[in-house]
Amino acid sequence: MTNKARYAAAVDTAISKLHEEGRYRTFIDIERRKGNFPNAVWTKPDGSEKNITVWCGNDYLGMGQHPVVLAAMQEALEATGAGSGGTRNISGTTVYHKRLEAELADLHRKEAALVFTSAYIANDATLSTLPKLLPGLIIYSDSLNHASMIEGVRRNGGAKRIFRHNDVEHLREMLEADDPAAPKLIAFESIYSMDGDFGPIEAICDLADEFDALTYIDEVHAVGMYGPRGAGVAERDGLMGRLDIINGTLAKAYGVMGGYIAASAKMCDAIRSYAPGFIFTTSLPPAVAAGAAASVRHLKTDQALRDKQQLHARILKTRLKAMGLPIIDHGSHIVPVMVGDPVHTKQLSDMLLEDFGIYVQPINFPTVPRGTERLRFTPSPVHSPDMLDGLVRAMDSLWSQCALNRQELSA
Ligand SMILES: Cc1ncc(COP(=O)(O)O)c(C=O)c1O
Repeated sequence: MTNKARYAAAVDTAISKLHEEGRYRTFIDIERRKGNFPNAVWTKPDGSEKNITVWCGNDYLGMGQHPVVLAAMQEALEATGAGSGGTRNISGTTVYHKRLEAELADLHRKEAALVFTSAYIANDATLSTLPKLLPGLIIYSDSLNHASMIEGVRRNGGAKRIFRHNDVEHLREMLEADDPAAPKLIAFESIYSMDGDFGPIEAICDLADEFDALTYIDEVHAVGMYGPRGAGVAERDGLMGRLDIINGTLAKAYGVMGGYIAASAKMCDAIRSYAPGFIFTTSLPPAVAAGAAASVRHLKTDQALRDKQQLHARILKTRLKAMGLPIIDHGSHIVPVMVGDPVHTKQLSDMLLEDFGIYVQPINFPTVPRGTERLRFTPSPVHSPDMLDGLVRAMDSLWSQCALNRQELSA
């Protein structure tokens, strides 16, 4: 066997393993219909088309089709063309990027904000850079932090401690065990997106004060949706000022693309100059920055949209619970239905799509631990009562058809 044949065989083995474990990922090709979200058209593998309703999107508020966002993007596109034409340092900083950063700094009541091409990159770039700024830094990271934070912490070459999910006592033990003089940072999320549970923000801030640590929060699944101006759970709980670095996305509730950190002017200034993930990549297209800024600005005042999303999430949870379906309910907007087996989860998802035009992607390992495979629904303000009704009836009938257990999981 040649080396090239060996490489191909190894790749084949890796793919076969995914099939055997029932977690081979199949992408569903969809085209969302502007003005008509969450409706979309699915192009099947045979080329035929089917109208579907998207129930697993992260465009949580439907801002991807909001007229204010589209107008801002169209205006910028007409004014300035397609791409930014450079990295932030070399010709890629435009008025649109500056306006977006000002909008975000104001949102989080911080001195500054720094926009990255995604929140993944913002997490990875910032967390991997901090030990360069703070030699000897120890990062305390929640065990269920997103892959982008794990990568950033893993790559930074500094010391790390992983505390059990949301376990502040475990975190305290770890903080107590380390040198009081060592620089410290606690990294965690406000909403963990797969279970929809909240991080203990206040208790973590208290510990950070006690042990003189910096705090880093990922509010990716909360910005736009929580707090009176959509700045996230920390804003809702009156804790925003106690967080040193806030990470968010422009791609979920804000409906566009990009990610950011908001922090002190000095912190942003340093990350700007030391983080390769910020420096060595082309900046967002100006039209994207303009659309994101319009979305952030709009959601500072559109409380009705936030309220409607929460209402739809509550209705869906109440109805699924009433049928005895095992949902996880931590009071957030995310509605996970536990199936607990990758094959069943995929089957359910396939049947929902084929038979009912309901699109919900199966969530498997490594996104969630094995044995906790699930369907994760994200009801939004643009899902109508009829759509909610159709989903509940479809789930009821498939649950019976597949003879799945009806038991309630307590949150
Ligand atoms: C908790 C968390 N942080 C960061 C990200 C990355 O966000 P983005 O899509 O902007 O890269 C995600 C994406 O799913 C996420 O769930």
